[in-house]
Amino acid sequence: MRRRMLIVGNWKMNGLIETAQELADGIVAGLGARSGRSLPCEVVLCPPATALLTVHQRLDGSVVKLGGQDLSEHESGAHTGEICGIMLRNVGCRHVIVGHSERRADCGEDDAKVARKMAAAFRDGLQPIVCVGETLNERERGATLEVIGAQLAALVPYVPRELTRRQTLVVAYEPVWAIGTGRNAELEQIREVHGFMRRQLEEAFGADAARMRLLYGGSVKPANAGSIFGLEDVDGGLIGGASLKSAEFLAIIDAVPEKF
Ligand code: PGA
Repeated sequence: MRRRMLIVGNWKMNGLIETAQELADGIVAGLGARSGRSLPCEVVLCPPATALLTVHQRLDGSVVKLGGQDLSEHESGAHTGEICGIMLRNVGCRHVIVGHSERRADCGEDDAKVARKMAAAFRDGLQPIVCVGETLNERERGATLEVIGAQLAALVPYVPRELTRRQTLVVAYEPVWAIGTGRNAELEQIREVHGFMRRQLEEAFGADAARMRLLYGGSVKPANAGSIFGLEDVDGGLIGGASLKSAEFLAIIDAVPEKF
């Protein structure tokens, strides 16, 4: 089963309109006239909500796609400050990050809420990119696979039985201790968790699991991207800090191997 590699830039709460424009323009220019098929991967940018429309306009005609960083689990209505999936679609998003560990920590999103948000993304025609990962404390007490297993298990009942090419499950393994710290997980640690996740998805979804993409995130840089993306069950990356500089982000895209 061929899985297309996927590189997602998570800009987090960085960038006013001008810097977002510059960054998007730099990435589009760097990818040049390449058509989607000649890129080694699919590329998605997730700017802050206030810059989505602008970035959408800058990406027009390019192969780069747009994603939100979060969405409401509700369809519409009295939810002050929230943004629903239809609104994200309306400003050009095809993807959305769900359950990032910063939202789990800052906004108290638990596994059940993350699962409902993922279901909302599927319902509203978006491709969810669901984040899972253990804290340092959980790793140190040997609970990594238990934590990841529980985070994945919460998602299973909400994944539609009829997956399509445009809407399948994408999971990003992001060890919390590796995010923004400059300390990426070791290859062996990534291999272990990704293999574990693939087996758990196979148990839940059978042959469909082979179409689901598993990303790694946490201090990915041009220097470590090639070896991380070369691992068997790693289908791309969720990139934070290094996605804020077009040259670094482009170098990470260049490090994507032709795997399948
Ligand atoms: P980082 O962030 O690349 O800056 O570690 C990754 C993420 O949080 O998605």
